[in-house]
Amino acid sequence: MKLLFLLLAVLSVANGFAQSKETIITIHPEQAKDTISKHLYGQFAEHLGACIYGGLWVGEDAAKPNTNGYRNDVLKALKELQIPNLRWPGGCFADEYHWMDGIGARSQRPKMVNNNWGGVVENNSFGTHEFLNLCEILGCEPYISGNVGSGTVEELAKWVEYMTSDGDSPMANLRRQNGREKPWKVKYLGVGNESWGCGGDMLPEYYADLYRRYAVYCRNFDGNRLFKIASGASDYDYNWTEILMKKIGNKMNALSLHYYTVKTWDGSKGSATDFSAEDYYWTLDKCLEIEEVIQKHIAIMDKYDPDKRIGLMVDEWGTWWDVEPGTNPGFLFQQNTMRDAMVAGLTLNVFHKYADRIQMSNIAQIVNVLQSMILTKEDKMILTPTYFVFKMYQVHQDALYLPLEMTGENVSASASQKEGKIHISLINTDLESEQRIKIFLPGLKVNQVSGQMLTSKAISDHNTFENPDRVKTVDFKDVKLNKAQLTVHLPAKSIVVLEIE
Ligand code: AHR
Repeated sequence: MKLLFLLLAVLSVANGFAQSKETIITIHPEQAKDTISKHLYGQFAEHLGACIYGGLWVGEDAAKPNTNGYRNDVLKALKELQIPNLRWPGGCFADEYHWMDGIGARSQRPKMVNNNWGGVVENNSFGTHEFLNLCEILGCEPYISGNVGSGTVEELAKWVEYMTSDGDSPMANLRRQNGREKPWKVKYLGVGNESWGCGGDMLPEYYADLYRRYAVYCRNFDGNRLFKIASGASDYDYNWTEILMKKIGNKMNALSLHYYTVKTWDGSKGSATDFSAEDYYWTLDKCLEIEEVIQKHIAIMDKYDPDKRIGLMVDEWGTWWDVEPGTNPGFLFQQNTMRDAMVAGLTLNVFHKYADRIQMSNIAQIVNVLQSMILTKEDKMILTPTYFVFKMYQVHQDALYLPLEMTGENVSASASQKEGKIHISLINTDLESEQRIKIFLPGLKVNQVSGQMLTSKAISDHNTFENPDRVKTVDFKDVKLNKAQLTVHLPAKSIVVLEIE
């Protein structure tokens, strides 16, 4: 079936066959019960390539305009994105990270080799204070990923005490010596990362025991309540979820899931910018497969936790292409086109549907690594098409999810309601044909509608340091209102978010 769809799509492109197709969407506000957590819009920052150094952090003495060492241009762009949470310091890096190397006078911090990512020397100048202060500036919640693979229980327990204790305790006093009187609030604590792989190559039974041991000693200090996240499965590893649900159960607040839109069966992952229509449709299929993967993990969770107390956190997701030619293969620096924007929008639309179980997601990664929001090159910065999707979709954060019914093909839609407004995100994945969409909003009184759109001439279009504004959002006008019915003409390969009042 998928193959047939792919063949038809490729043939229609080859024939230059463009026509309007029709989709009918009915929104059901009366069935609404779940809130789309703002944490589905989380980000991820790892000590990897130029994510931290050069991307977020240049240091206080840099010539580049900065605020206490953070790049001003990047800060500004990120503030506008209203990031709800930021995961750090990894990824694979987290399980080799020893937090005590990243506190105190920067000039005296020990160095280490970043074995996971390019073997470069990490000077630890960006550590706990630099990260938690960044979260305060961005107004987001920190999500600390603890070292279980090569660390100790004592080390992680002390890190929690250092960050969150307000008492006369050894770690709180050490923090004070380092210039921070009051503790930070740290809710989200990841107990390991990819413990089945780079985080220790463990079996699920062994990890489950280890999780339980770590969880005992990571304590709640002075009103700070930890939300502990177990290191969850990769993609299709349903057995990992089964064992963790059985052996850890409600001793965890959530478990994670990693799913990348990536080609794994040959050496090359494919170019980020140079791809065929066939590659494009393959990418969408792979991206949308996340729904089945989520459903299967949720079905296992439902068996053990029918009341849905334990969250599923998709704390790594996004596209993974070959690195840009000439860049360090260990730095995972890739360009970002309209195809990536499609993956972002489609994935977020899927996450909304499972808002009763998915409590957080973190796209990988925030700057300069994999499917980034922002790319930097020395003093220059560009916003990616994915950035614009996150910006347009902000309206769904902490909004009431509105179930919908849909007929038609090649369209993805998601609706939510907040502060008296309804927002509908619509995606036409077809490369050639526009979509005529009729949207019914039974029982609702609609006065006005406006919209924003992201599209481009070619699906491979992207922003570059030379041409930073090729892909950006524009006002969307092709929508007509008739009582509680909207008619929308959605151009080929476009993403639109409508606001209805
Ligand atoms: O995001 C890059 C890497 O992908 C992360 O470090 C790791 O957790 C995953 O395998």
